[in-house]
Amino acid sequence: MRILTGLQPSGKLHVGNYFGAMQPAVELQEKGEAFYFIADYHAMTSSSDAAALKQNCRELAIDFLACGLDPQRAVFFRQSAVPEVNELAWILSTACPMSLLNKCHSYKDKVAQGISPNHALFAYPVLMAADILLYDANLVPVGKDQKQHVEVTRDLAIKINQAHGEGTLVVPEPIIRDDTSIVMGLDGRKMSKSYNNTLPIFGDEKPLKKLIMRIITDSTPVEEPKSTDNSTILALYKLFADEPTFGRMIADHQQGGYGYGDLKKRLAEAYWDYFTDMRAKRQEILENTDYVDEVLQAGAQRAREEAEKVLGRVRRAVGLI
Ligand code: ADP
Ligand code: TRP
Repeated sequence: MRILTGLQPSGKLHVGNYFGAMQPAVELQEKGEAFYFIADYHAMTSSSDAAALKQNCRELAIDFLACGLDPQRAVFFRQSAVPEVNELAWILSTACPMSLLNKCHSYKDKVAQGISPNHALFAYPVLMAADILLYDANLVPVGKDQKQHVEVTRDLAIKINQAHGEGTLVVPEPIIRDDTSIVMGLDGRKMSKSYNNTLPIFGDEKPLKKLIMRIITDSTPVEEPKSTDNSTILALYKLFADEPTFGRMIADHQQGGYGYGDLKKRLAEAYWDYFTDMRAKRQEILENTDYVDEVLQAGAQRAREEAEKVLGRVRRAVGLI
């Protein structure tokens, strides 16, 4: 069973990214042969800042390794280290009706956000299909926003198989994370860079704890019970505390006598403790700068072997060789 997913290098990793994407990927690496990559070609569809791209790729690699990606188990690489993906994307483009891409909501959403509507942004789902199909992936864990792209991938694989022979491409299945795994941001909305409500997982203690103190709450006085419905403090605390500790936090909300300041302080401590080991691992990686390059190089080599095999099969099927 091959499991594949890509993460865009788009800035500082936050708690939403960790619980929504990183942690599930780390768990899944035990369940099959994992291929995880940094989607740097995709990041170019919405930014042309070369220095930022380079820096973000490096940080994502470091963070992913610090969060538990095990390069002995998972093949970890940069998308652009396997340029064969572009050839497969081209071949898939020739089988992709315009109507299929016209239906994709992420293009429209991004244009609505103010990103300039270039060709790559429009063709993005075809490149994503190539990412998946190039490695014969069976399972693709993604957030709900990417579900449509995996459907496009399946459509294209089926079309190619119909035209050029069953077995030319492996038709993948998505694993879609449910809504309950959406992490709330400091203002109570979904945590997202675009809302500027994120809690980074790495950084210095003081500013991070300060951010937690900014969580928006109501003005219930200290002595009175605090609502446990739609509480951002509780939603975040649940991620970091074990069950009995979380139970005590609920009880302290319900009985009153604790101010929001106290409750936030408790959240800040739980959050800081939760990432202790990952911070230490990250520090270790930072002190050995060659390590990340070595991991990515070995991953790229392994990914490329697989890509050449699959691309050879496709090239033969479509008549290029
Ligand atoms: P952002 O919304 O901050 O720009 P991205 O879109 O770059 O985050 O998301 C990267 C990954 O993290 C995706 O797989 C996405 O589903 C996941 N993710 C982002 N925010 C959250 C969140 N608040 N809760 C759960 N998962 C999230
Ligand atoms: N488009 C995905 C995102 O923005 C990233 C991605 C690129 C991806 N290629 C992929 C995810 C292939 C899964 C499989 O989150």
